[in-house]
Amino acid sequence: MTDQTVIRLEGVGKAYGSFRVLSGIDMQVHKGEIVALLGQTGAGKSTVMNMIMGTQEATEGTIRVAGHDPHAEFARLRGKLAVSFQTDRLLPWRTAVENCELGLLILKIPAAEARKRALTWLSRVKLDGAADKYPHELSGGMRQRVSLARALCVDPELVLLDESFSQLDHVTSRTLRQDFAAVVREYKKTCLFVTHRIDDAIEMADRVIVLRPKVGVALEESIDDTLRADPAQAAALHGRIAACMDGDPA
Ligand SMILES: Nc1ncnc2c1ncn2[C@@H]1O[C@H](COP(=O)(O)OP(=O)(O)OP(=O)(O)O)[C@@H](O)[C@H]1O
Ligand SMILES: [Mg+2]
Repeated sequence: MTDQTVIRLEGVGKAYGSFRVLSGIDMQVHKGEIVALLGQTGAGKSTVMNMIMGTQEATEGTIRVAGHDPHAEFARLRGKLAVSFQTDRLLPWRTAVENCELGLLILKIPAAEARKRALTWLSRVKLDGAADKYPHELSGGMRQRVSLARALCVDPELVLLDESFSQLDHVTSRTLRQDFAAVVREYKKTCLFVTHRIDDAIEMADRVIVLRPKVGVALEESIDDTLRADPAQAAALHGRIAACMDGDPA
């Protein structure tokens, strides 16, 4: 592994008792890359994310995140890894800025510094002015932005997103995706995100990985702006991903 590999999975498998979800998963995410993890429901995307986060243990193989085993060395990755999920998981009794700074306070960053950083990130996700609002006073898209600001403000080495954009309406989701991709690129964050939506993946990712139930990694392709700008190439990639996601398990 080079220093440039933030996530590495080698021969990773996961079974719940006799029920096998994944086997032989090999994948990497390099520093500064945005990688989309796609697959039909039940393909094991969230399971992969949970193992990378260290909340679940692989039954076979090796997982390294920033050089550490995320399950065995959970504490070592504190502050290096930030997570945002489908549900925003904001605390209803804390304002936007208070939700945002929570991770920093847990990392023992002094209160004034934590507040400053939280406000900066809220502004970067275009939420100036909403800092003192409670979650129930914010729209779904705004809550999702708070959740992203909270994830990014600990200055993590790695950002993991599981369907963070999927519950929002089309327009909100699109703007949020674009803003998020711009912020991730500008601050050179490494990001692995899960989505069902092929268009989201093509729009945001440097690389797509498609998981298929019982097969594992069924497709892996790089994407660049040239491809994005060429409707024919983008449509062809869309078709390959769709065919792969629809395929019957081998
Ligand atoms: N704790 C668990 N115990 C038993 N089976 C589980 C557990 N968690 C997940 N599974 C099973 O593992 C498989 C993969 O689940 P996972 O949540 O990783 O899929 P996914 O790709 O994230 O799906 P979705 O797109 O619906 O979120 C599913 O068949 C699921 O029922
Ligand atoms: Mg899932």
